[in-house]
Amino acid sequence: MSVAKSLPHDAARLHVTGEARYTDDVPLPAGALHLAFGISDVAAGTIDRLDLAAVRAAEGVVAVLTAADLPFANDVSPSAHDEPLLATDQVHYLGQPLFLVVATSHLAARRAARLGDVAITGHKAILSIDDAIAEDSRFEEVPRIYGRGDVAADLKEAPQRIQGTLKIGGQEHFYLEGQAAVALPLEGGDMHILSSTQHPTEIQHKVADALGVPMHSVRVETRRMGGGFGGKESQGNALAVACAVAARLTGHPCKMRYDRDDDMIITGKRHDFRIAYDVGFDDSGRISAIDFTHWARCGWAQDLSLPVADRAMLHADNAYFLPAVRITSHRLKTNTQSATAFRGFGGPQGMVGIERVMDHIAAHLGLDPLKVRRANFYETGGSARDRTPYGQAVTDFILPDMIRDLLTSSDYAARREAIAAWNASSPVLKKGIALTPVKFGISFTLTHLNQAGALVHVYQDGSVHLNHGGTEMGQGLFQKVAQVAADRFGVEMSAVKITATDTGKVPNTSATAASSGSDLNGMAVMAACDTIRDRLAKMLAERHQADPSDVVFVDGQVTVGQASVPFADVVKMAYEARISLSSTGFYKTPGLAWDRIRGEGKPFFYFAYGAAVTEVVIDTLTGENRILRADLLHDAGASLNPDLDIGQIEGGYVQGAGWLTTEELVWDDQGGLRTHAPSTYKIPACSDRPDVFNVRLWNAPNSEETIYRSKAVGEPPLMLGISAWSALADAVQSCGNNYADLQAPATAEAVLKAVARARGKGQGDVV
Ligand code: MTE
Ligand code: MOS
Repeated sequence: MSVAKSLPHDAARLHVTGEARYTDDVPLPAGALHLAFGISDVAAGTIDRLDLAAVRAAEGVVAVLTAADLPFANDVSPSAHDEPLLATDQVHYLGQPLFLVVATSHLAARRAARLGDVAITGHKAILSIDDAIAEDSRFEEVPRIYGRGDVAADLKEAPQRIQGTLKIGGQEHFYLEGQAAVALPLEGGDMHILSSTQHPTEIQHKVADALGVPMHSVRVETRRMGGGFGGKESQGNALAVACAVAARLTGHPCKMRYDRDDDMIITGKRHDFRIAYDVGFDDSGRISAIDFTHWARCGWAQDLSLPVADRAMLHADNAYFLPAVRITSHRLKTNTQSATAFRGFGGPQGMVGIERVMDHIAAHLGLDPLKVRRANFYETGGSARDRTPYGQAVTDFILPDMIRDLLTSSDYAARREAIAAWNASSPVLKKGIALTPVKFGISFTLTHLNQAGALVHVYQDGSVHLNHGGTEMGQGLFQKVAQVAADRFGVEMSAVKITATDTGKVPNTSATAASSGSDLNGMAVMAACDTIRDRLAKMLAERHQADPSDVVFVDGQVTVGQASVPFADVVKMAYEARISLSSTGFYKTPGLAWDRIRGEGKPFFYFAYGAAVTEVVIDTLTGENRILRADLLHDAGASLNPDLDIGQIEGGYVQGAGWLTTEELVWDDQGGLRTHAPSTYKIPACSDRPDVFNVRLWNAPNSEETIYRSKAVGEPPLMLGISAWSALADAVQSCGNNYADLQAPATAEAVLKAVARARGKGQGDVV
């Protein structure tokens, strides 16, 4: 068996030696040109003058393009056709590409891009959630509302009731490899694109539209990304399209990569949210009714904002049964970067909302927040408390068992007591601890995306060429899927060649997203391998007068009855018997039915679960804080590769904790992003990981029939990071009896303000 094994990432050695080729590392043919955008320094306005004479005259410049020079579609949006590659007459955000410079070097292109003589008459920019509410600036005319029951009546009758509002910041992806693309013009107007993208098929589609050619004329290849995190689902379109258009115009290969500050200023980030709640509950903290309002800041173009905001609504329950519930979601249009997919795809924001409610109820009643959480959990086994607000039954709710296990392994109860005692005698430093659960829905909510294809060849020497529609961004998808292929044929891993994602091999792929990469592509690869394996088994069975099901593929041998033949010899026999040794494979997720307008049905194949205990310490004089210890227990089903999954869980937790603590995006009052470099935008460093970091897999088979009964693991662990924020809220709350109302991100400043509020000192306005 090569599955369920902790084999290293297939490219680990290449990553650390620098041999791994990212898009920017691919040697370019002679005559290659380099691209840069000239961008707007105004957030909203009309272009009065775009005088590019100085740009054209600059050293090394070969061509300069504006919207008027584009031969066909001027659109790089994923679906809504509202995102021009280059601005036409209106400017929608500070950072929007206005013109495209084609030059002999990257530096020459960048230098020239600064020389445009641009005059823009500014309009009133809608920058914040408040601005957008005041101007009624939105993407869907009516807010989306999901829910059930008579929320108003049940709120009125509830013995206890509280309200609150929470601001949740956005997040920069900070993939280590920035956005990059190369276009290699071929004969007859065809185009070969290399792109750092999670979605090669969309790149193919957008490039075809921009060149006025059918999709068959464009081939897109992606060997790997140096991180995507959702930021390369749609945000790579502009670079690939720019390269293709410039390559068509000049006949030369063209490359574009964003420098870090351009990347941060031009591309979209996680949606920041405001969430208001009005919740009714009893004296034990059990919720009877809740009314949530979500406001999502979507930026200037629609991008993926509607499904992101939907997924936030679909995670407003997290792990809790909400008897009467209403979730109202406003998708606000603002003159800022177009917010986009980011690990969890809106789910984390929805989940932070309900976790805040749990903490607020606990503070209100003076209870241990864990007690309140447990009082509200879903219940299975015939209970009526098993329905999500959208009507899907929760069938395999393993969280109570997981939490019992985690409480023991993390020594939660004793540590909580010890922290209370420590806080009582420590005037300046205060500690906090929290346990938060995760229940995350797995599947694309746009149901038709839940499909995948694969292409497998077996060569005459028994070696295997593996290809599928998924992309590799560091998560280890290629390794996991290769383990599946090796297991199906019973061969060594070294017999399986992992190859770049290529629209010419597997067509019409979905983005590698929604954590579904291994679920979908693993199954498609299994189908392709099994088709070839069945042909081999049939051949051998006929020769040995056996049943094909008696033919076994294991340890590089194919065994039937007494006979055992090396896999390579069987392959050679099949070749000589003129049996096809190549196959496609296809998979679609079964049983999904979802109405996103009514908010009813079964959007998810299953749920992935997890729970985390985090302990923190804060300095009440400065607001500075640290994570002291984190204990994570996460459900990856029967893991395909435990070490890779642990890596996803560790990275997810740290990225989630970073989002809710140190990572703060700041725009000025003109709509300029002030935090556009690592000097001002603080992702967690290696030294910020918890001093004690215990990470375990639950490792029980998925109750649904997934690939080897594993579970998707890419996004869910990010939400384990909520426990760090909740622990900070716990530490802050220990400072006084007033509700501390900690906001997100809980930067040192935010912690300090919350401490003041807890102490009733007044100066802690929520900003
Ligand atoms: N892990 C690494 N190292 N790099 C990434 O870019 N992206 C995350 C997650 N884990 C990411 C990652 C996101 S947003 C998703 S949707 C999944 O991986 C995608 O891959 P999968 O479907 O194979 O899990
Ligand atoms: Mo992940 S946000 O679905 O790319």
